[in-house]
Amino acid sequence: MVLKTLRKISRRVSVFQPSPHRKLVAKVDELLRAGREVYSFSAGQPGLPPDEEVIRKTFEHALKDPFNHYRYMSTRGMMQLREALSQDLKKYGGIDVPPSRIMITSGGVEGFNLALAVTTDPGDEIVLLDPTYSVYWDLAKYLQLKVKSCPQLIEDGFQPSDECLEQVITKNTAAIVVVSPDNPTSRILSEKKLRLIADLASDNDVWVIYDEAYKHVIYEGQHVWIHDYGDMPERLISVNSFSKDIAIPGFRLGYTYGPEKIINEMAKLKGITTISSSVPAQWFAYYALTTGAKERYLKKVLPIYRSRRDAAYNAVRKYLPEAKVWKPPASMYLFPDLSPYLEKLGMDDITFAYQLADAKGVVVIPGSIFGRAGKNHLRLTFVTQPEERLEKGISLIAEFIEEKESK
Ligand SMILES: Cc1ncc(COP(=O)(O)O)c(C=O)c1O
Repeated sequence: MVLKTLRKISRRVSVFQPSPHRKLVAKVDELLRAGREVYSFSAGQPGLPPDEEVIRKTFEHALKDPFNHYRYMSTRGMMQLREALSQDLKKYGGIDVPPSRIMITSGGVEGFNLALAVTTDPGDEIVLLDPTYSVYWDLAKYLQLKVKSCPQLIEDGFQPSDECLEQVITKNTAAIVVVSPDNPTSRILSEKKLRLIADLASDNDVWVIYDEAYKHVIYEGQHVWIHDYGDMPERLISVNSFSKDIAIPGFRLGYTYGPEKIINEMAKLKGITTISSSVPAQWFAYYALTTGAKERYLKKVLPIYRSRRDAAYNAVRKYLPEAKVWKPPASMYLFPDLSPYLEKLGMDDITFAYQLADAKGVVVIPGSIFGRAGKNHLRLTFVTQPEERLEKGISLIAEFIEEKESK
């Protein structure tokens, strides 16, 4: 029987293509299966596995009380976990967020999907900083939003200019998305910029979606807590992840906090999409937050990540001297600008990333998928490999360029 072509695929999904990001993350497994030596600078994966004691505790609980461990859960999430988060936000940010304003999500990604879905209608305008986490661009297309953006340039330590922010945040803006510490640039947005954004949002009545997925992954400086700025409690929707700070990306768990009215709307939407987030994962997060395991894990990994960051930065300077590279104070990524090399090769960063993976087994994420300002950059995750492998992988990028140049 000849299969008929599918009758219709919605315009909503046809407007965006599968991201090279996901394809390149899958490429790592493909190369490994083919028996290749792989240097993966791709996914923002934690560098060390989660705390062993928490894994043990969660499994013990599952065996002792399987019914409660695997049952359905309320859409907003386990009350004990939301109470623990309320205390955690007080402890780290000095902010008062009651459990009624917290909702557990299936990863930070679900948090910002819901946040944008409940605050915008098709045709509305949002502001993104450019470059930014690639999913935001595709999500904006999916939700049929217009995007205004401000470039974040390496010369400015990836801080957007005041002038641009003042120009793009207007009465027409439905929401601004701010990621800090950032992906892919790893910069921490300065307190001054965040105050300006808060003021502009307030003056123009704009939602602020603050993606704080990396708030605990900081080597120098501090996370900026904006919940208490001016009228932020009325307009801030904070998106958080458990993927980085307690290292459970595969468990798909995060949380969001914001005004009760918005959390209610987000819960309504979650109720018809995922119903609730993984219950075993919620128990895991609960134990990580209430037994000191989160602190223990961060204390262990941050010095390791810092040393890996330094090694990756030094290797880029050594092997790719014509690249512009900035040493970030946080997060998991270097974001060097390889324009001089790519221009000489006459190659765009996406083609470069695919060819590099096939030729050398070095998997990087091309910068242009994070926005126009990311063109000719590469995102290099520095937390997942020890120093010598980081150096070797980066030396192979240089070797690949040399071989291409000499052809
Ligand atoms: C800025 C940013 N926000 C959100 C996420 C999503 O995290 P999660 O795994 O919790 O969905 C990521 C993942 O890398 C990210 O980089």
